[in-house]
Amino acid sequence: MFARQALRSATASTPRLFSTSAANNRSVAVLGASGGIGQPLSLLLKQNPLVSDLRLYDVRLAPGVAADISHVNTPSTTTGYQADQLGEALKDVEVIVIPAGVPRKPGMTRDDLFNTNASIVRDLAKKAAEVAPKAHLLIISNPVNSTVPIVAEVFKKAGVYDPKKLYGVTTLDVTRASTFLSGISGKKPSDTIVPVVGGHSGVTIVPLLSQANGGDAVAKGEQYEKLVHRIQFGGDEVVKAKDGAGSATLSMAYAAAVFSDALLKALNGEKGIKECAYVESPLYKDQGATFFASPITLGKDGVEEIHPVGKVSAEEEKLLEAAVPELAKNIKKGVEWYAASP
Ligand code: NAI
Repeated sequence: MFARQALRSATASTPRLFSTSAANNRSVAVLGASGGIGQPLSLLLKQNPLVSDLRLYDVRLAPGVAADISHVNTPSTTTGYQADQLGEALKDVEVIVIPAGVPRKPGMTRDDLFNTNASIVRDLAKKAAEVAPKAHLLIISNPVNSTVPIVAEVFKKAGVYDPKKLYGVTTLDVTRASTFLSGISGKKPSDTIVPVVGGHSGVTIVPLLSQANGGDAVAKGEQYEKLVHRIQFGGDEVVKAKDGAGSATLSMAYAAAVFSDALLKALNGEKGIKECAYVESPLYKDQGATFFASPITLGKDGVEEIHPVGKVSAEEEKLLEAAVPELAKNIKKGVEWYAASP
């Protein structure tokens, strides 16, 4: 079940909001909850019937955001935690979603955020490894290609790393690909599922249009190249339109809510939950890309199966050839930075 279908079933389940069984109850923490992504994401999680204990942490405003969201009449409790309460916010929590950090301004690449966000994510991960070592970690903070390997290194150092429980959230790339392709093919977005593999920035984002329903409408040529470019650099459209006020927040919150919902369903034993995510992966390991986004099946313990990229077109093969070395470089940068960091 990919992104769009996941949301449809989340929407379909709304009438069940007040009849969730105790077995389904899950604790979820959002770190960076007062931000452009954090606020709408927290609101969407408050609406999710599988969440019973919602914990909102930020270095600013989190108690206010939590007070506001707590008035929404769904059964979950919502608690805000301020700067010095990270340990409390994370204690034994089951799922941690991290959109903390700074977003891009016009002209910036995601890699330009590295210096600021790498240490923010490292420090949050250190506390998580200490007080919630069994939690599933969903990383949104950019550059995802590097921040996810940093979290892995933190958990390894603490001796609690479980690669099945660490995910870079790339659902927004899948969401954009579906929206943009359906705009051309005329098919419903919910029927237009495009696997997006590789990483989460520029050329590392590889949409597999040849595997998508409606993808044959743009198999090659100029229209194909334009569509691929739009999927790879769709985030820039938002950064430019917001004109210095940040990057994608609302569509990202939607995408993170879709992925969180899929994971929560899988943790509760629902079968056949499939999403794309950036995880530790054997697929391109021999070329240095120890993390790679591809379709994965989620289960009770997290990543249950990593699916291969499958049959790709000659154009997609070229995209992969450009993506993998760049991805390997981004991963190496994260790992080396962590090794040298205090
Ligand atoms: P924002 O600036 O609106 O919000 C970030 C929040 O993080 C702020 O409330 C800030 O106070 C908080 N924060 C900063 N340091 C913190 C710390 N040490 N602990 C807890 N909270 C902390 O930024 P926005 O737009 O919400 O973006 C957040 C991140 O998500 C950025 O790195 C951005 O590049 C990334 N992003 C990722 C996407 C993806 O597809 N994975 C898509 C869009 C953005």
